[in-house]
Amino acid sequence: MKYGYFDDAALEYVITTPKTPLPWINYLGNKEFFSLISNTCGGYTFYKDAKLLRLTRYRYNNVPYDNNGKYFFIKDGDTVWNPGWQPVKTALDSYECRHGLGYSTFTASKKDIQTRVLTFVPMEDNCEVSKVTITNNRSTDAEIQLFSYVEWCLWNADDDMKNFQRNLSTGEVEVTGGGSVIYHKTEYRERRNHYAIYGVNTAVDGFDTSRDAFLGAYNGPDSPDAVAAGACTNSIASGWSPIAAHQINVKLAAGESKTFIFTLGYIENPEDQKWEAPSVVNKKPAEAMLAKYQDEASVDKALEELKAYWKDLLSIYHVKSSNEKVDRMVNIWNQYQCMVTFNMSRSASYYESGIGRGMGFRDSCQDLLGFVHLIPDRARQRIIDIASTQFQDGSAYHQYQPLTKKGNSDIGSGFNDDPLWLIAGTSAYIRETGDLSILEEMVPFDNDMSVAKTLMGHLKCSFDFTATHKGPHGLPLIGRADWNDCLNLNCFSEHPGESFQTFGPSEGPVAESVFIAGMFVKYGEEYAQLCDLTGDHAEAERARAEVKKVYDAATTAGWDGEWFVRAYDANSNKVGSKECEEGQIYIEPQGFCVLAGIGVKEGLAEKALKSVEERLDTKYGVMILQPAYTKYHLELGEVSSYPPGYKENAGIFCHNNPWVSIAETVLGHGDRAFEIYKKTCPAYVEEISEIHCTEPYVYSQMVAGRDAKFHGQGKNSWLTGTAAWTFVNVSQYILGVYPTHNGLSINPCIPEGFGDFEITRKYRGATYNISVKQNGAQKGISKLIVNGKDIDLSGAKADVVSGGALIPYEEGVTEYKVEAIMG
Ligand code: BGC
Ligand code: NOJ
Repeated sequence: MKYGYFDDAALEYVITTPKTPLPWINYLGNKEFFSLISNTCGGYTFYKDAKLLRLTRYRYNNVPYDNNGKYFFIKDGDTVWNPGWQPVKTALDSYECRHGLGYSTFTASKKDIQTRVLTFVPMEDNCEVSKVTITNNRSTDAEIQLFSYVEWCLWNADDDMKNFQRNLSTGEVEVTGGGSVIYHKTEYRERRNHYAIYGVNTAVDGFDTSRDAFLGAYNGPDSPDAVAAGACTNSIASGWSPIAAHQINVKLAAGESKTFIFTLGYIENPEDQKWEAPSVVNKKPAEAMLAKYQDEASVDKALEELKAYWKDLLSIYHVKSSNEKVDRMVNIWNQYQCMVTFNMSRSASYYESGIGRGMGFRDSCQDLLGFVHLIPDRARQRIIDIASTQFQDGSAYHQYQPLTKKGNSDIGSGFNDDPLWLIAGTSAYIRETGDLSILEEMVPFDNDMSVAKTLMGHLKCSFDFTATHKGPHGLPLIGRADWNDCLNLNCFSEHPGESFQTFGPSEGPVAESVFIAGMFVKYGEEYAQLCDLTGDHAEAERARAEVKKVYDAATTAGWDGEWFVRAYDANSNKVGSKECEEGQIYIEPQGFCVLAGIGVKEGLAEKALKSVEERLDTKYGVMILQPAYTKYHLELGEVSSYPPGYKENAGIFCHNNPWVSIAETVLGHGDRAFEIYKKTCPAYVEEISEIHCTEPYVYSQMVAGRDAKFHGQGKNSWLTGTAAWTFVNVSQYILGVYPTHNGLSINPCIPEGFGDFEITRKYRGATYNISVKQNGAQKGISKLIVNGKDIDLSGAKADVVSGGALIPYEEGVTEYKVEAIMG
């Protein structure tokens, strides 16, 4: 069952009922000012950091689920309704929400009064603009009222929901223009140099800034007193809960429309220009911002700029195949989600509260893989920011705050996969851009510039960390956990409430990870390639010798007979082995070792993937492990804490499905690679939205596994490494346009009957118009013609694993016509 449809021409998903199984959200903002917005106008806004600079309040864990947003109310006689249905939930005569790239629209009607709300964050300003158009479709005049409502958060979202003894006394506001512009200035009198505004481009008939005055002390936003009464009270908040609400009385002749523009903005003033008079904030920058969005034409122009920005970004990788679902995911939604994960890391979604995690070291490094082609300059900066939170021994803070860019000491370090992801991200950036200068950038350790090294020096630290932290089997030590945060082999937590991620020693000398071994083989080779590129062949040789040792350990101690072992625990017992009672096989080492090329020539890879198919596959995707843990295993940690079928305990963790799909392409299995791609692909899952529940245009972190009561149900949509890895899989391995250090290579691996396809790829200043003829094959290029010239394919090996056909780069050529014939 569907609750909407894709409008590919408009680059939108159209939701046709407010009652979706879960809130279906969108993200507004591309740079530093962001809003989350659901299909019923729920959500919140922040600047740069969802924890430290939160503009508006949201109540996670609320009943009903999605409560608090930036709401508009229409009062039409005795009827009160909202253009997004919530919070009053008056039945609407029509409703449509369109989520586009960085904007959303809500069109609704009740008793022949129609509203259209367009909301977005303009490219150039730190504000969210909402254009509200009300149309009277009656044959008679209408007199209605429009109310706006936002509830301010007192900036630090964590403190805001805990520290009431202070916070109920700190709230302060100012009002200008008779209430048209409301200033939220809590804590501005002391250490803050920023305030927020909510303004409308018209004179108002009333306003409120005190929540109790507007709602009534015993009401929620579903029944505001002021709306029921048809009159705001012009309240000036002092402490308690400041809000911003406008009241506009609207007279509309038959057929007439009127438009109002609301601007919710963030303003910073220099320290010496904070005040225009004692206790009166300097409003000049706010007025300048508001002045830009006074009329419809300027709002429409700003929206066009946003659309043009996205059109441009999406022209960098564009496919045209005979498969509309693949095209819509590759060309629109998958890349859009990659941008959102790049911006948010794992901080703010409807499942991440914005106060828990900031930027994840491993998460953000992986997000780069799916984002780097879009805006390489931003990727470059991100790599430097991430590397700045590394320690001198190569280990790293697991997370950092986006505002301060400082490592988060609450969680600390000890996640032993982290260092290697830095190589992954840097290598992807250089393969995309050819910009080796990044390796020469001086980058601090733990933000301390006095101990800076070049980025290349950091990568060496990353590499050496793994090379020098190995256990009894010559496999890398796991530390607190590797990619699987829940495999806590040194934790031994016996008491509820202890964090699995921080309890116990950060590292034991015994517990080892075969997954990190796979990473070391893959990213160790990518490190060696960077050494070669910078002329340090001795270091490249040393690196390859270290990689070889770990490769050998992975194919011996890391091999279980039919698949790769997952790990060795603190007692050197196997995890993810046929010897285990539960958790006999895990997905991660099967996918990652094979995509790294481990066991391909020995025939182990083939066996491992066959075991995955036999033991882990379901119709909704590949589960992370089997059999599920039914008991808590002290020696394994959080993985066994989840009920069977959920999350890391045998859920379908979408993030590592693309690893297995890529692994299948390494072996040339186009049918199977695509089958795996399809199972978790939102556009394919759209048809079962009532089972899947989360948004059908983006990936979720997890789909409940076979052991779960709600098998097939998605959770944790949006902020997941699935976005980047799936884009890497489909764009670089399935469709097969892979950026190497020497240029683009072509090496598709597609299912039988997929058919011919075309790709436009902008890369290092040139445009590649690539046409691929399937010619009955699933993998392999037999002929490559570039700008009319037949290319000799005999020596062309694109990268160590996939060995594609390299398109020779020619100095000064900016258009490449590429014809690739498979077979
Ligand atoms: C989740 C993991 C997540 C970790 C973050 C765990 O509870 O299961 O998916 O990575 O928390 O700290
Ligand atoms: C989600 C976390 O953000 C990510 O870092 C981790 O790798 C996965 N969960 C698996 O545990």
